[in-house]
Amino acid sequence: MQICETKLDIYALQAGYRKNGHTIGLVPTMGFLHDGHMELVRQARAACDRVIVTIFVNPTQFGANEDLSSYPRDLERDIAMLKAEGVDAVFTPSPQEMYVRGSETIIEATRLSRILIGRIRPGHFRGVTTVVAKLFNICQPDRAYFGEKDYQQLQVIKRMVRDLDMPVEICGVPTVREADGLAMSSRNAMLGTKERRGSVILSQALFSAEDICLTTSVTAQKLTKFIRSQIETEPLAQIRSIDIRDAATLAPLRGKINRPAVALLAVSFGDVLLIDQRTFKHGA
Ligand code: PAF
Repeated sequence: MQICETKLDIYALQAGYRKNGHTIGLVPTMGFLHDGHMELVRQARAACDRVIVTIFVNPTQFGANEDLSSYPRDLERDIAMLKAEGVDAVFTPSPQEMYVRGSETIIEATRLSRILIGRIRPGHFRGVTTVVAKLFNICQPDRAYFGEKDYQQLQVIKRMVRDLDMPVEICGVPTVREADGLAMSSRNAMLGTKERRGSVILSQALFSAEDICLTTSVTAQKLTKFIRSQIETEPLAQIRSIDIRDAATLAPLRGKINRPAVALLAVSFGDVLLIDQRTFKHGA
């Protein structure tokens, strides 16, 4: 497995892959890998000739008071995991390598980036789209893989690719969960024991809401109220937002849920902001 710290090294590598007619699958990550990331890698491996994983804790997607400095990192362990999974190359640039001095160009999906999580974390998705566009330019992938757990991020990236005619296929991969249902996330490692135990309420509320949606005719407002009441049974959970939206456009849903919908949760446990989601087909 090649480990590249500079753009020049990755340019040379991906140009070599292309020259040999190989397709490239890209898995962008911020490291501290878990089985959710490994599922992205496995899907890339199955569909592409070559797999490049990027590990870069992107400063431009963190707000001033967010957890950039405490974001968990373990490069040695990440590299061992990727080697074991048969990844071809890992790109681990420094912030200075990624952003040349005086960088001022940004990419932003101006509506999708500013709703939902974008209201809680202003500027977050602008940082994500800008860095992902740069990674696409540097690595020139045929396909790129993102988890559905970060549902809004996935929609924002799909919108950027569509709007800017980027020649890359975006592949969404279903959320991988811990045995008790908690969606896998690098941030889970930052939870204390009590918070970790309490965080299971998110998936429990989502799965119960899904059952209701499949078996009864329910409005988005009622379902939101139900999810809120479930999460409020956990004293350590501070609800930041609960939204039921159109699964394709993220537009608000009014009245009875009669098309594919997504429930999006943002809930803090202490200083740790967790997000989770579940897409529902309507039943009754
Ligand atoms: O989902 C993440 O880990 C990050 O937002 C991404 C897509 C790697 C961009 O920094």
